[in-house]
Amino acid sequence: MCGIIGYIGKKEAVPILLSGLKRMEYRGYDSSGLAILNDGTIQVEKKVGKISELEKSLDGNSIPGNIGLGHTRWATHGMPTQINAHPHIDSKGNIALIHNGIIENYMSLRQRLEKKGHKFRTETDTETLAHLIEDAYHGDLLEAVQMALAQVQGTYGLAVISDMEPDKIIAARMGSPLIIGVGEDENFVASDLAAIIPYTRNAIYLEDEEVAMITADSIQSRTLSNEKVLNKVESVSFQLEEIEKGGYDHFMLKEIMEQPRTLEDSMRGRLLEEEGTTKLGGIRQYIDKLSSAKRIIIVACGTSWHSALIGEYMLEEFARVPVEVEYASEFRYRDPIIEERTIVIAITQSGETADTLAALREARRKGASTLAICNVVGSSIAREAEAGIYIHAGPEIGVASTKAFSSQVTVLALLAILLGRMKGISAAQGRWMVRELKQLPNMVTQVLENMEPIKELAAKLKDHPNFLYLGRGFNFPIALEGALKLKEISYIHAEGYPAAEMKHGPIALIDKDMPVVFIATQDGTYEKVLSNIEEVKARQGTVIAICTEGDKEMKSKADFTIEIPRTMNFLMPILAVIPLQLLAYHIAVMRGCDVDQPRNLAKSVTVE
Ligand code: AGP
Repeated sequence: MCGIIGYIGKKEAVPILLSGLKRMEYRGYDSSGLAILNDGTIQVEKKVGKISELEKSLDGNSIPGNIGLGHTRWATHGMPTQINAHPHIDSKGNIALIHNGIIENYMSLRQRLEKKGHKFRTETDTETLAHLIEDAYHGDLLEAVQMALAQVQGTYGLAVISDMEPDKIIAARMGSPLIIGVGEDENFVASDLAAIIPYTRNAIYLEDEEVAMITADSIQSRTLSNEKVLNKVESVSFQLEEIEKGGYDHFMLKEIMEQPRTLEDSMRGRLLEEEGTTKLGGIRQYIDKLSSAKRIIIVACGTSWHSALIGEYMLEEFARVPVEVEYASEFRYRDPIIEERTIVIAITQSGETADTLAALREARRKGASTLAICNVVGSSIAREAEAGIYIHAGPEIGVASTKAFSSQVTVLALLAILLGRMKGISAAQGRWMVRELKQLPNMVTQVLENMEPIKELAAKLKDHPNFLYLGRGFNFPIALEGALKLKEISYIHAEGYPAAEMKHGPIALIDKDMPVVFIATQDGTYEKVLSNIEEVKARQGTVIAICTEGDKEMKSKADFTIEIPRTMNFLMPILAVIPLQLLAYHIAVMRGCDVDQPRNLAKSVTVE
């Protein structure tokens, strides 16, 4: 997901642009660049690698000017090279543009422009946009951008400056987030609030098909077909320190450690202990639809898909509603059957995952009611769903999702209790469930205080090339999540499986070099998991067991045990995942990996 920032006002643009780009580094990128309007001309500087490389190339001689654009690129079309880095310019360098998204028909547009004599310098889809605007320019930059974008298929969050109209920035959005920061005699454009939060808390969220003309003291928005748009200025609340590391070595560790608070935030104002139920204002008008739904389909990717699996178990057990969990990328292309009274829920931390957004749109096209469980306020999926539930986990900066996952599962528990109470769960049972939920943050604190044994275990296991994670029931998705955490930040191969599936193949992998992590808490399948552990031991496998505190039998069987407090089965996954997050984190640190920005990964996959 690329980072976009633009500035127009009275101050020097370069320092503002560079600091904004740095606050977006967490999104993952491979190159960066600036375009500054100065004294009637556009100066462009761009570099491969970290923003520090760009700063070095400026070599202290910052480019003067108070209008400019900055960009961090995560390559989609064209290798991560200096020439492919943004900003891109038109034939004569009168127009500079930065872009987040994918122009799907760029090749045909490029061929048409080449026939008209345009020469291209790069392999990127973005450069085509700059030439398209040049081709459409007849004295009105806003109109040229509208006309160019009317020919485009694909997604964009973009910003444009030109030395032909050196008093404005044109910004436009289709499918990739774009925010206008409203200041005093200065305005900003950004793909992420984090870039502009030190300067203003007043934000305009552009909608799809909107184009804005931004000067130092005015903002006018229109649609692509030039209808006037009245933008709403919203005041944003999150604090800058929320996106700083808070004294931890990595954002990921900060986010693992802040889960007691973020779980409280996810439940705040939503637990009705006396009535033994919960309150979810965001989906108030959909509660009846949900409780009478014939089927619920949950679409998600990655870690969010794992929380969706836990949601399936919860909703089926408590709300007795059939639930299917689908990879969003599969759902969107397989022409799914959506009958009446079907609800589709998208689960997504970023609210910008391209496949999940597309799956939600496909569901709506087929007549389903669409809801979202999302973390980023104002994100595309949050806005496009008919209603939804924010998980309130705060900005999640580490690419590997941790606090968002536990908050997603918590919100799913809230929903399951709410619907379950409408479908026959007694008030007493509901009160018990709510009370256990209330205790969750304290229990998570207890697990987090037991960090040392996990670090020691990480030191012992860090050089193994392969891991197996096994669990049953509510803990099966935790086996998947534990494996994903390890592989995405330590680059060790790891697989999650239902424990019973071991006999259907993975058992062939077991030997003394294969650590096998069992989520083996004392629930209805405990005895079965014990047998699976015996099977692994019989083949010299090393057994690591996440087990219920005080489980002496497990301590006698497993090579290593990590104990977690006892709670109701449906909440155990939230406790069981914590040691696995920490195990992955410490192994990755000991292996010298870039924990917050693992190779090849981005925080939000806004492209297919
Ligand atoms: C999780 O640690 C990964 N970063 C990734 O699988 C992520 O969960 C996936 O890309 C979905 O992102 P979303 O929740 O923002 O939609």
